[in-house]
Amino acid sequence: MTPLSAPTLHGPRVGLRPVEVDDHAVLAAILAEPEVARWWVHGPLEDAVAELFEVDESSAILAIEVDGEGAGMLQFSEETEPDYRHAGIDLFVGARWQGQGIGPEAIRLIAGYLFDARGHHRITIDPAAANARAIRAYEKVGFRRVGVMRRYERGADGTWHDGLLMDLLRGELMGA
Ligand SMILES: CC(C)(COP(=O)(O)OP(=O)(O)OC[C@H]1O[C@@H](n2cnc3c(N)ncnc32)[C@H](O)[C@@H]1OP(=O)(O)O)[C@@H](O)C(=O)NCCC(=O)NCCS
Repeated sequence: MTPLSAPTLHGPRVGLRPVEVDDHAVLAAILAEPEVARWWVHGPLEDAVAELFEVDESSAILAIEVDGEGAGMLQFSEETEPDYRHAGIDLFVGARWQGQGIGPEAIRLIAGYLFDARGHHRITIDPAAANARAIRAYEKVGFRRVGVMRRYERGADGTWHDGLLMDLLRGELMGA
């Protein structure tokens, strides 16, 4: 399998493309929104923004665009150990685009790519167990609840929060 790289993909409303330095201000502004920061920012905001632009060969970062405007970010990574091979994804959408199916469309695009172009049979995502909006959005696409990972991640308040492991197998993608 070729090394991981960020593709450019287009759906009816959503575009995905490799993130660029010029996206910095838009993504920083979205990450600063309380509706996004609550689930994404665990320490200083600058650190969360900087992580999106770090060169990391194990993950790809994509800008989510709606009508050519920056609406969010989607990242994916791959487990390359052959016997455990799968992809993991994560994303955020700015507050003014939430609740319009933008997140699910972006996930369908990347899931189609990961199944078809990258040959994966399984994709995982791990929202906070309390993130009901995200869990609802992922279930609409076909993700299923695997189980609660207790005290999985440390929140901005410094305490450990439960995460929900969800997975999607090839053939289960809904609404594609
Ligand atoms: C999570 C996220 C990616 C989902 O994308 P989206 O484009 O907003 O998703 P949707 O348009 O499907 O809207 C969310 C769905 O959850 C529902 N929802 C909203 N709040 C909810 C709640 N508290 N409980 C249950 N469902 C809820 C909405 O009604 C909608 O479902 P519907 O279409 O059946 O009405 C996006 O909201 C987001 O980026 N949120 C902030 C950051 C974040 O949480 N990232 C995920 C980290 S794992």
